[in-house]
Amino acid sequence: MDILERCRSWTAEHLRQTGRDCYYRAIGDTFDGTEVEFGGRRVIMAATHDYLGLSADPRVRAAAAEAVGRFGTSLGGSRAVSGSLELHEELESALAVFLGQEAAVVLPSGFQANLMLAPLLGPDDLVFGDFSNHVSLDEAVNLGQAEQRKFLHGNVEHLGELLHAADGSAGKVILTDGIFSVDGDICDLPGIMELASAHGARVVVDSSHDLGVLGPTGAGVGEHFGLRPDIVTSALSKSLASVGGVIAGPAEVIHYLRFHSRTALFTAAASPANVAAALAALRILQAEPQRRARVLDLAERLHNGLRALGYTTGASVTPVVPVLVRGRERCLRMWRQLEAAGVFTAPMTYPGVRAGQEVLRVTLTAGHTDGQLERVLAAFEWAGRKEGVIAPSASQGYAPVRIVRPAASADAAAVASGG
Ligand SMILES: Cc1ncc(COP(=O)(O)O)c(C=O)c1O
Repeated sequence: MDILERCRSWTAEHLRQTGRDCYYRAIGDTFDGTEVEFGGRRVIMAATHDYLGLSADPRVRAAAAEAVGRFGTSLGGSRAVSGSLELHEELESALAVFLGQEAAVVLPSGFQANLMLAPLLGPDDLVFGDFSNHVSLDEAVNLGQAEQRKFLHGNVEHLGELLHAADGSAGKVILTDGIFSVDGDICDLPGIMELASAHGARVVVDSSHDLGVLGPTGAGVGEHFGLRPDIVTSALSKSLASVGGVIAGPAEVIHYLRFHSRTALFTAAASPANVAAALAALRILQAEPQRRARVLDLAERLHNGLRALGYTTGASVTPVVPVLVRGRERCLRMWRQLEAAGVFTAPMTYPGVRAGQEVLRVTLTAGHTDGQLERVLAAFEWAGRKEGVIAPSASQGYAPVRIVRPAASADAAAVASGG
């Protein structure tokens, strides 16, 4: 079939099934990131990964504006040639130290940071990836042309079997998300690292959702478990309130990747505004642990408020709150009801999740108020009853979620909530 014709017939069917409202919805205005305006109507934004609410912070905004004033909007070239600022290097050093690694390199997106792994995932290497890994890790494997053997989500026994069956001379790499971006659960890093050391494999963790959220200082899943993966990647668009990505690891490996990864060599440098914003956000993240305590506290109340209404939030113990609404049509209908009730959530349907595993992903930031949390829960109560997703009356008891909270930040949470 002609390539354009193929798109036309798919588009007609997609618009018939999905409409234009659920995805690629254009925001007219944002109000400190916790609320947004669509076509003149203001709703609560409950689908952003700006976990610490820093994109609204005046210090982060000022740093971005100052960088634009000083360096302009673009460096007009790649890092390798004309696009490296001392500011990039400052951010890279700060991130490497924060993540407990020797060196780091910053890319224009988190997706690209993962693609930068491709030279380590060659045709002679074997990759073991969690089934629920972010798609950009899969694409890195495709780009590198390694063979990938996927292990069942979070199942280290299955990983062990695959590693055992694969013992041999191939280079072995285990890829996992730290906090999984849809399910909101945490990888079993201790189990993974133990297997890695037994089978001579290297461990790469994508900490996009756990950087800023997990660990006593917010350094992510490695710090949470007191372990150091071989390589850590992360988007800068979540807790770091910017746009970009980072890959951190041993200094020689980072140097090698700078020269072997086409994703890094042949792309423009991350913009001055984004680099400055991430650096300012990192400093605030480190200085103000109460933000981490606040987002965890709100997440716990969100999980348990939803569960009390009769919803299921899966295995998540983090601020990524997946509300199970199985069935694509049902999930999108529920999304529309919530939007009508003033709450914007993220409808995760195929290809974001497998068909039949649809969820509405809800995330609140440290910047959301208690009042906004109550409005989100009220909207879920109203919409869920209307759509028959929950029973007409409150559920009889539920298993409460105990949010993941490092000992050090539990004290800060008590201070933040006045307890
Ligand atoms: C786990 C994970 N890795 C990588 C990315 C890609 O990051 P970016 O949006 O900066 O390209 C995302 C963002 O969606 C993510 O959730």
